[in-house]
Amino acid sequence: MDKQYILAIDHGTTSTRAILFDHECNMVDIVQKEGKVEYPKSGWVEQDALAVWLDILYVIAGIINKSGIKPDQVAAIGISNQRETSVLWDKKTGLPIGKAIVWQSRQTSEICDRWKEEGLEEMVRQKTGLRIDPYFSASKIAWMLENIEGAREKAENGDLMFGTMDSWIVWNLSGEERHITDVSNASRTLLCNIETLEWDDELLEAFHIPKTILPEIVPTSFNYGTTAPYHFFGSRIPICSMVGDQQAALFGQLCLEKGMVKNTYGTGGFLLMNTGDKIVRSKNGLLSTVAWKIGDHVTYALEGSIFVSGSIMKWMRDELQLFDDVKVTSQMANNAKAQDDLFIVPAFVGLGAPYWDDKAKASIVGLTLGSNRNQIVKAGIESMAYQAKDVMDAMEKDSNLKISKLKVDGGATSNDYLLQFQANLCQCALERFKVTELTALGAAFLAGLAIGYWKLENLKIEIDQTFEPNKKKEEMDLHFENWHRAIASCQAFKPVQVEG
Ligand code: G3P
Repeated sequence: MDKQYILAIDHGTTSTRAILFDHECNMVDIVQKEGKVEYPKSGWVEQDALAVWLDILYVIAGIINKSGIKPDQVAAIGISNQRETSVLWDKKTGLPIGKAIVWQSRQTSEICDRWKEEGLEEMVRQKTGLRIDPYFSASKIAWMLENIEGAREKAENGDLMFGTMDSWIVWNLSGEERHITDVSNASRTLLCNIETLEWDDELLEAFHIPKTILPEIVPTSFNYGTTAPYHFFGSRIPICSMVGDQQAALFGQLCLEKGMVKNTYGTGGFLLMNTGDKIVRSKNGLLSTVAWKIGDHVTYALEGSIFVSGSIMKWMRDELQLFDDVKVTSQMANNAKAQDDLFIVPAFVGLGAPYWDDKAKASIVGLTLGSNRNQIVKAGIESMAYQAKDVMDAMEKDSNLKISKLKVDGGATSNDYLLQFQANLCQCALERFKVTELTALGAAFLAGLAIGYWKLENLKIEIDQTFEPNKKKEEMDLHFENWHRAIASCQAFKPVQVEG
């Protein structure tokens, strides 16, 4: 029999990847496609769901072609995805009825304000472990039902389907056979009760969202069905995991025990702590979320979601044109004057954890006449670490645990300056791994476990480098105090109301 592989499809906000893993947990091949994100109005972030589906087809075709394997050498497919991003599509035509609203979008903040005024906040927090914020899917669905012509009518007639990107991808990949979402994705919608792991009727009623549009909630690692042959070179390949990308990274980092923490720098930045079978309710601005469900066993996590992290590098490259290639940025930061406190607070779409201020505006604070591009690049890189430290502090308070080690992954981890700075700031060791695509690896692991390709004890990842603190805590604390002054200045902005 030909050698078998697991194919992970990792659909992130700005890029989609197909990655093949072998039985030794090695990354065998990768194909990547940049995705388009649209910013039609201030604070609005949208995507064309059909374009996302085409990207999926592109990377599937690409990986089979590039690797030279036969399609049926793929033993199973695992899917990890950007979470919360929501799309509604017509059941009859299979076509989206509007743009997908991306997790970063603030366009539903008025709906959220309304729900807060109605006093729904405590119930939402209790049932979902989340908070009322435009970040989560519910207000996005409500916005589409209120603003897309004919949407509510279609929903009431049972002709409309809702999905986060996992549902949308599997619906299409299975040839419109399966309308499902896994618990890790469902737990980000603001509609799922994280104790019962079911859609919550009281929430649905409060938000005026009909249950008929929702997918069935399924475990994270499970044989859900197969690809339609016409989407996979004539083969029916089992689809065996669907998992939110941050929970996937937690699994890929093998943070399988209570208290283990990972930090991913993607478009946003996400720290997750495995809290075992217990829901830890945050008092410090974090979220309680479902990590995964395997068989009947549910694992929970405490999460700090940072809205802009790795994407600060893209902004500095494309909009400020401070460099052509991110590879030079570590050196640029090293060349900047270390003692100058210049901060970029990347509140481009407000601030997520632990501040949750959707009105905050991004700024550069602390400029002097000596400030130059190196200084600004250094501030951009450091903003990822400062935001992570804010979340880490909240996590230690909520969990009553001291975090002595942080497992890191995502594009920005190739930046040594960032990791050394963060090790100093957080006064803890940062571990970087040889396989960099740990989100995809997590989805692959979960899919492989479902079909017995791996057993739990076969899963492994190798450390590439550990970054230990080499600066004093007292010195780093002074910078951190200034960071909070910079944050406060961004929160002082008030929106100007224009008449007419
Ligand atoms: O919650 C949003 C998150 O899932 C997005 O991930 O990788 O696109 O930053 P990413």
